[in-house]
Amino acid sequence: MKNRVTKAIFPVAGLGTRFLPATKSVPKEIMTLVDRPLIQYAIDEARAAGIKEFIFVTSRGKSALEDYFDHSPELESALRKKGKTDLLATLKTTNMESGAIAYIRQHRALGLGHAVWCARRLIANEPFAVILPDDVIAAEKPCLQQMVEAHAETGGCMVAAMEVPQDKTSSYGILDVREDHGTIVSMNGMVEKPPAEEAPSNLAVIGRYILTPKVMQHLNKMDRGAGGEVQLTDAIATEIGSGRPVHGYRFRGQRFDCGSKAGFLQATVAFGLARDDLRDEFSQYLDELVSVRNAAQ
Ligand code: G1P
Repeated sequence: MKNRVTKAIFPVAGLGTRFLPATKSVPKEIMTLVDRPLIQYAIDEARAAGIKEFIFVTSRGKSALEDYFDHSPELESALRKKGKTDLLATLKTTNMESGAIAYIRQHRALGLGHAVWCARRLIANEPFAVILPDDVIAAEKPCLQQMVEAHAETGGCMVAAMEVPQDKTSSYGILDVREDHGTIVSMNGMVEKPPAEEAPSNLAVIGRYILTPKVMQHLNKMDRGAGGEVQLTDAIATEIGSGRPVHGYRFRGQRFDCGSKAGFLQATVAFGLARDDLRDEFSQYLDELVSVRNAAQ
């Protein structure tokens, strides 16, 4: 068994401009799918994968995130007095053990690679996970857990991967596939956001990574890539051909791009329908909506 992965970095410094005006005063990661903030989905997935230390790379205006993970004594005692044990249990899932959570500020928006690099001192010499909370993945076995299990066999670096439409390659890191074994893919390289006609495949990086500290060393160089930003994809690509393993991992599950409005709405519907307490009422509403639309056509 290779080195265990117990630390995860959550890059949450982005401005979330696509969701303005909502994100004017609320961090994007606090926006809710049904009744849980995006960040809670990410944390739950990390916990299921055995992560014990949670490192948030934040920026100005993100203090609501810190409050979210804090205890709320007034609220808790009010709920206790009213005997609301189920809500108390729900609140508990947001609490973090003291010392398990760290916040690092990214002072300048220099890209995802730079955001990850900001956490380098907390990573020291261990493998670590990176979770992008915008990518919400519904799966029987949480995506990062699938990856941690696969990584125990492969070691090295691993990125979650999924086929995307060819005309969407310019929104993703794209794998240049060497050997495709189905779930595990080896590569010749990786390119950040290539135009469709230059993309080496349509297999895209999705926001789950397991990385080695070597990647931090590559990031140290601060090489600028696509969009003039320091790209995590480029730093991982540098590892390919080093003799150390780098793999793509085709996860089982459905990914929602909650960085886009359409993806966020799709996730809201999917997670709403997945809930026992909402399914009947919500699906009845959707059925009615569809039949009204069909009748009108
Ligand atoms: C980031 C990464 C990209 C990856 C994507 C997945 O891009 O840079 O390689 O494919 O996340 O969601 P962003 O969406 O932050 O532009």
